Amino acid sequence: MPLVRENILQMAGYVPGEQPGDSSVIKLNTNENPYPPSPRVLEAVQRITAEQLRRYPSPDARTFREAAAQVHGISPDMILCTNGGDELLALVFRACVGDGDHVAFLEPSYSLYPVLAAMQDAEKVILPYRINGTHWEFPPEIFKLAAKLLLIVNPNAPSGTLAELPTLDRIIASFPGVVLLDEAYVDFAPASALPLVREHGNVILLRSMSKGYGLAGMRFGYGIAQPSLLAQLHKVRDSYPCDALAIAAATAAITDQAYAAGTWEKIKHQRAHVSAALRSMGFTLPDSYSNFVLAQVPAPVNAGELYQRLKAANILVRYFNLPGLTDKLRITVGTAEQNTALLTALKTLTTAA
Ligand SMILES: Cc1ncc(COP(=O)(O)O)c(C=O)c1O
Repeated sequence: MPLVRENILQMAGYVPGEQPGDSSVIKLNTNENPYPPSPRVLEAVQRITAEQLRRYPSPDARTFREAAAQVHGISPDMILCTNGGDELLALVFRACVGDGDHVAFLEPSYSLYPVLAAMQDAEKVILPYRINGTHWEFPPEIFKLAAKLLLIVNPNAPSGTLAELPTLDRIIASFPGVVLLDEAYVDFAPASALPLVREHGNVILLRSMSKGYGLAGMRFGYGIAQPSLLAQLHKVRDSYPCDALAIAAATAAITDQAYAAGTWEKIKHQRAHVSAALRSMGFTLPDSYSNFVLAQVPAPVNAGELYQRLKAANILVRYFNLPGLTDKLRITVGTAEQNTALLTALKTLTTAA
């Protein structure tokens, strides 16, 4: 008898981006914020007492929910805290999707979604983006779907492209199940879909502290939705998903909006610079509203080989051997120094290739 369920035997697990131990690597592969978190974060972590470690933490990360509610102008009961945004995704799948149910998502998009669908033994409904040059558009079938769950990353990963709120509004209004709007990168975009949460009871926003707040190492994310939907997710989560250190760090980070916004501005400025420089070297890329760009390499350069050569030069970017992505590299926007090193290496490697 197999030790695990048949669908688990059959599925491939998610492969996270590389995390090299060597700190000299210029790491532009997993969309971390290149700047450290607010200094208030380290102060908050250092203030943690042995007594706080001895006890279980707040089961619902109360201090964070109150701080985030203030920032977003909503009530704390519209916020559910999780161990990274990824845990929110797991909760949504667990609560909404059973064996054989349909789960819809765009492609290319976050490559964790098909893995979560496989874990639930769900049927995947893949919605291919309509890609016309650098223009990425939803396919028309997204407006007339029948599925339990629809996942949309906005701004999208790995393209960095942005869908407008009226379009999202129409999709949510026409969809019979839950729509998860994954806003892991929204801090680098002009607007959030937060207003849609007030209007629709079937939408959940995913937020992450990993990107905008420089806390990928802490693992903290949260969902925003109407309290009645969050009450259902509460039933399927662990008792204490966020630890005391992470709650203290995330609360300090979200409270220091001025510091975080300063890093977003620097990243957006560098994003414009990197995009223009890549285009001048012959790369093709859509305008990005995120903290990375998706660059199609100029022929006859091979994207997989270029990825390897950058790696040999101590620069890590992301290469996906997936449909629609094999001629592209996803490159996180780094600090000015990191970006200069990347662009210098690319200039040499693309002319020598
Ligand atoms: C599109 C998208 N959603 C969600 C996440 C989850 O982020 P985290 O679990 O670090 O909060 C990521 C992380 O890379 C992501 O790219």
